[in-house]
Amino acid sequence: DWTMAAYRDTKIAEIREQVGDGKVICGLSGGVDSSVAAILIHEAIGDQLTCVFVDHGLLRLNEREQVETMFRDHYNIPLVVVDAEERFMKGLAGQTDPEKKRKFIGGEFINVFEEEAKKIGGADFLAQGTLYPDVIESVSFTGGPSVTIKSHHNVGGLPERMNMKLVEPLRELFKDEVRELGRELGLPDIFVGRHPFPGPGLAIRIPGEVTKERCDILRKADAIYLEEIRNAGLYDAIWQAFAVLLPVKTVGVMGDGRTYDSVCGLRAVTSTDGMTADVYPFDAAFLTGCATRIVNEVQGVNRVVYDYTSKPPGTIEWE
Ligand code: XMP
Repeated sequence: DWTMAAYRDTKIAEIREQVGDGKVICGLSGGVDSSVAAILIHEAIGDQLTCVFVDHGLLRLNEREQVETMFRDHYNIPLVVVDAEERFMKGLAGQTDPEKKRKFIGGEFINVFEEEAKKIGGADFLAQGTLYPDVIESVSFTGGPSVTIKSHHNVGGLPERMNMKLVEPLRELFKDEVRELGRELGLPDIFVGRHPFPGPGLAIRIPGEVTKERCDILRKADAIYLEEIRNAGLYDAIWQAFAVLLPVKTVGVMGDGRTYDSVCGLRAVTSTDGMTADVYPFDAAFLTGCATRIVNEVQGVNRVVYDYTSKPPGTIEWE
């Protein structure tokens, strides 16, 4: 008779067996998968595990602080937070091609991670929150059989380069099972139920050039949108919801003045695995409320649009 509690105990024994007295390093993304993997591994081997969280400046509002609080204060897990915003912004300057942006971010992430691993004296194992769907879908992320639609950002390539073995305790699990395991490990519901967030972060939600200023604008708009969704009690009914910031300026009027600012797009979809998705059918009043708040509260945005495209033909992210 299979329970998540039993699964957890089995995995803890397996991790101890595999790792022995070796050192493990784990890259945290702030997402559910890497967090659950890290907490499980920490239960198994304690401070033989070090977690590294790279702040590439492409995170959501307060995300870094939330991860720090959770891991350091709540779980007492050794955590290295790397402030890498400047080098990511520098590398993204002038880049407008979606694949080049993705490739740069993935590569730079590995560089930063590798440097940090060296600083702590290296590790024998790399822990990853790889799930079963990642294992079976490893060829093409977006479901196209032979075309790469988007280069998926993960830490692939790292283990060989750093001569590390992999610890992947979630390889047999689906997303909903990972959430259940997370609850079993004491993760708060609000964290376990978080929407997925892509490795390249806000960069793929800012078509065109990414700058710190544009990230700041998007962070504010996105936080308002998600606050409205939570207040309306809709968060858990949605697979993923987020704002995008478009490289288009339009004319508006506020008070008695003319404005000329950016367009913000809102996206919300339902899905079971991210491979296909349907548009979430908000009622008009809800969207109008979000648009009003965003335009009033976020300087730099004067128009809000809603994305009515399902996947396929649209992808969930805009790049
Ligand atoms: P798309 O945009 O391809 O996204 O329809 C499907 C799901 O995958 C997420 N996504 C990523 N997750 N690294 C990730 O960890 C990535 O590079 C990446 N690109 C897309 C996306 O947020 C959605 O949940």
